Amino acid sequence: MKTFYIETFGCQMNVHDSEKVSGTLLAQGYSQVETPDGADLVLYNTCSIRDKAEQKVFSRLQQFKRDAGKGKVFGVLGCVAQQEGEKIFDKAPHVSLVAGSASYTRLPEMLVQLEAGGSRVTGLSLDTDETFETPFTRRDNPHRAYITIIEGCDKSCAYCVVPFTRGPERSRTSGSIMEEARRLAEEGFTEIQLLGQNVNSYQDPSPAGWDFATLLRRVAAIRGLRRVRFTTSHPRDFVKDIVDAIEENPVLCNHVHLPVQSGSTRVLERMQRLYTRDEYMRRIEWLKKASRGISITTDIIVGFAGETQRDFEQTLSLLDAVEYDSLFSFKYSRRPNTPALSLDDHVSEEEKGNRLTIVQEKQRSIQIRRNSELIGSVQETMVEGFNKATGQWIGRTSQNRILNFTDSVHPSPNGTAFLGSYVGVRVTRAGPNSLVGERISGV
Ligand code: SAH
Ligand code: SF4
Ligand code: F3S
Repeated sequence: MKTFYIETFGCQMNVHDSEKVSGTLLAQGYSQVETPDGADLVLYNTCSIRDKAEQKVFSRLQQFKRDAGKGKVFGVLGCVAQQEGEKIFDKAPHVSLVAGSASYTRLPEMLVQLEAGGSRVTGLSLDTDETFETPFTRRDNPHRAYITIIEGCDKSCAYCVVPFTRGPERSRTSGSIMEEARRLAEEGFTEIQLLGQNVNSYQDPSPAGWDFATLLRRVAAIRGLRRVRFTTSHPRDFVKDIVDAIEENPVLCNHVHLPVQSGSTRVLERMQRLYTRDEYMRRIEWLKKASRGISITTDIIVGFAGETQRDFEQTLSLLDAVEYDSLFSFKYSRRPNTPALSLDDHVSEEEKGNRLTIVQEKQRSIQIRRNSELIGSVQETMVEGFNKATGQWIGRTSQNRILNFTDSVHPSPNGTAFLGSYVGVRVTRAGPNSLVGERISGV
């Protein structure tokens, strides 16, 4: 029997693509192994969002170069594959499969070509209106399942490779999404995460014609589901109806990830983000007014081309104004093909590093303050794991906070039965990145 190994880099869309690819291979008779050493087929599902991410795959390929020619097949999937295409064969001649995400429906056929003695196969066309769906998806988590609702991206943020690596937007039909969600609920999954680079621009291509908020309401109404999450939202397409849907339905988690990138309207314009700081703040107001206490998280890029000290200070003042519950921050990285390459006034690496540190320190104190506000409250928590070193269960709240807790009824794991349960936990302590609590009895 043939074996495969797959390593995944990048965002949740890539993580879920790897689940679909693995499922497809298992259905073809392959079995999965945990290390590249024993694998006949070694796959890297790659990310190209920043230069560092791209470099990772080439260092991995270098590492296993000596194993090439011993019957091992190396394949590069994902965003670096789409971006670099056949150039990958020049950089790493032992690779024989290069395929971007829009070609995964053709994977079984490509593998047959390789098995029949083909030395190099590629799947690089972006000329597709389909999304990659397979009934064989192998899910990594037995309680939380991902569902892709839209592929690609039609925005053209000046710094971003995604429109080039994932192609144009393609929404999946509401019928096919609902069918998958119902099946998952029947199989016992209680949490579903709807995925897309820009979920807000979801537009059902079938005659039902649902928009994103309608889809949210319908998925949340499926029997058996306790939590529905979605990511990522683009502020330009984020409408008030999404907040209303969350308000109405506790199954829709009270967490919205709304990447802002910068607090300066001038920089947002140079980034081609299609909203001003004020327009962004209006969306934050809708979220803050909601009675359910919706947590808000974001992404920040520091040191974008032309970002002055004044622009940067506006990002800092935005952090104070919004008080995000968590954020991801990145130094701007120049990427191939992107419009921002032609901008001038690049910020030095040293200055980007300084700005990143300032953002992270500020955010750390905001998070300590935000998390401390929850001390004394009771949070519904999904049990995700157990930390042997601390003797605490690891849980997650609807707001997507990590809540580590002790439980006098289940002091330690007894099989896997408690995992995936929903329990009430009283918060007793708060740190910048997580909460600590005790399970309350009878809930
Ligand atoms: N589709 C999502 C996010 C895509 S990538 C959205 O529109 O928000 C995730 C994050 O990576 C982005 O939000 C951005 O903060 C960061 N990012 C993207 N390109 C980058 C680049 N060239 N340099 C640094 N960070 C980048
Ligand atoms: Fe990239 Fe912008 Fe599309 Fe997000 S919306 S994937 S940042 S181009
Ligand atoms: Fe990376 Fe591609 Fe996702 S570039 S962030 S893996 S869409």
